[in-house]
Amino acid sequence: MCGIVGCTTHGAEVVGGLIESLKRLEYRGYDSAGIAAQTPTGIGIVRRVGKIRELESHLLTEPLHSSTAIGHTRWATHGRPTEANAHPHRCGKLVVVHNGIIENYLELRQELGDAVFQSETDTEVVAHLVAKLWNGDLAATVRLAVGRLEGSFALALMHEDMPDLIVAARRDSPLVIGVGDAAHWLASDVPALLPWTRRVIYLEDGDVAELRPDTLRVTDTSGKVQQRDIVEISWSAEMAEKGGYAHFMLKEIHEQPTTVANALLGRIAEKSGLVTLEGLNIDDDTLRTLRRVSIVACGTSWHAAQVGRFLIEQDSGLPVEVDYASEAIYREPLLGRDDLLIAISQSGETADTRAALRRGREAGAHTLVICNVAGSSMARDSTNVLLTYAGPEIGVASTKAFMGQLTVLSLLALKLGAVRGRLTDDVMRQRLHELKTLPHAIEAALRTSDEARSIAGELAAARDALFIGRGVNYPIALEGALKLKEISYIHAEGYPAGEMKHGPIALIDAQMPVIAVATRSATYPIMAGNVEEARSRAARVIAVVSEGDDRVARAAWRTLVVPAVPENLSPLVNIVPLQLLAYWTAVARNADVDQPRNLAKTVTVQ
Ligand code: M6R
Repeated sequence: MCGIVGCTTHGAEVVGGLIESLKRLEYRGYDSAGIAAQTPTGIGIVRRVGKIRELESHLLTEPLHSSTAIGHTRWATHGRPTEANAHPHRCGKLVVVHNGIIENYLELRQELGDAVFQSETDTEVVAHLVAKLWNGDLAATVRLAVGRLEGSFALALMHEDMPDLIVAARRDSPLVIGVGDAAHWLASDVPALLPWTRRVIYLEDGDVAELRPDTLRVTDTSGKVQQRDIVEISWSAEMAEKGGYAHFMLKEIHEQPTTVANALLGRIAEKSGLVTLEGLNIDDDTLRTLRRVSIVACGTSWHAAQVGRFLIEQDSGLPVEVDYASEAIYREPLLGRDDLLIAISQSGETADTRAALRRGREAGAHTLVICNVAGSSMARDSTNVLLTYAGPEIGVASTKAFMGQLTVLSLLALKLGAVRGRLTDDVMRQRLHELKTLPHAIEAALRTSDEARSIAGELAAARDALFIGRGVNYPIALEGALKLKEISYIHAEGYPAGEMKHGPIALIDAQMPVIAVATRSATYPIMAGNVEEARSRAARVIAVVSEGDDRVARAAWRTLVVPAVPENLSPLVNIVPLQLLAYWTAVARNADVDQPRNLAKTVTVQ
């Protein structure tokens, strides 16, 4: 939540560039934004409620000229989205921006006694604390101050007396430094740096960095210098842009055939039937003796975990349990050295998933991270990491990252199945062949877009919607419902179709659209029966069906037809029309597709 940027350089104007960078972080929060800039007359601050464009248009009429500045886009935690609560916060000659939560801020506020606070935020306490501890050296004082802070933070600070210096610090919140020519940049995430540089340094927990135009110094909180490598980012700036699509979400939905191809690249050898997962450093003997798999995740990643459960159980015979990370961390982790804990996260920064991963590791389990961001906290904290290679996902509603997760989980299930002797070489060859042809099936599924758009014209008027599916497509019903609710604000529930008769069927009438995932599968006949039951209670059924289907299609009001693929791969195809349905419904309702209300892309607070 919240995005931080900063830049220090010689002479050149940086405020416009920081606005550009903030726009690329807007997915992290967008209820208010602000800039603090060093000027010849001191630090100038501009803050505005609303999106970055509000801040931008103000700066067009009243520009801030500066070559050293910091900025922030906010997702409110402590204090409403008002100008007073927007960052940066000032205390005398000091300014600060913050991402995360200072858990002991009330205690510190009391301790700071006579300090006068201008906002309701936890962040402002940092400015007052640094001012109180001030010893004339910004980095040294920040080191002292962070020792007093509890919780998670990424911080950037400036002081009027040191006009070319930015000091940054992090604990449990991401912070990346961009290395330019006679310039250093700072951001919460790599896409914000891509217009300026592809050479980045990921700060580690406990790092305090001093950025000046020509120098960068990183220390730990005791002041000991830390060596941090420069990483060359392969993503281009264009990859994080819309490329002609109206929204990032639509672009990202259409990128999914490539997502699958990228996630498979270099990992499968079809002829020999082998899966090679670089980044999985657990040897085959250990994989053979595993007793259990436990998966933790949140939101869409949790739905991927549910699909993963089905795949891993079917292919490897290992029992799999799936937990919401936010629940797992408040229970005793019943994990041991024969268990594999998998944490799935697009961002690799989700606070609950990170905490659940840490607890699993402490309990002695083998751990594996599946994530999309190579330099993220989870990826860097783990010895076993499978990257999804989906590229930057900017739309707050996750689409292609989910696709990448499903692809990697399919590979992992095959790998475990082969190592544990459940899948023969012939079966592996066949399965890898099927996987390889999947991008074409997803291309074909994307052709449902026009039909989804036409259905969306009517679905947009609904107040509620029910999504149903069975087996490996039950999580797809859940994900379809989540997509619809988070971007169109229509209340939607996902249910296993077999549960309908145990309650939800009471809701069905002509006003309740039922979206059924009813493609070819072992449970198709019984699913067709569920569709007919809904239909006979006047529901308008929108069914995702396989090419050539006639039974469900007859009972349905409208259909979204996708290619027939093996059942275990069907989630990767079936989710596509549901993403498109949610997208077009949100467009029909004039909703803010890429930045739905109250949401943030990266949830770095619990
Ligand atoms: O980055 P993560 O995958 O850990 O994020 C988990 C959820 O916050 C995320 O999937 C969220 O549910 C999205 N809004 C889904 O579209």
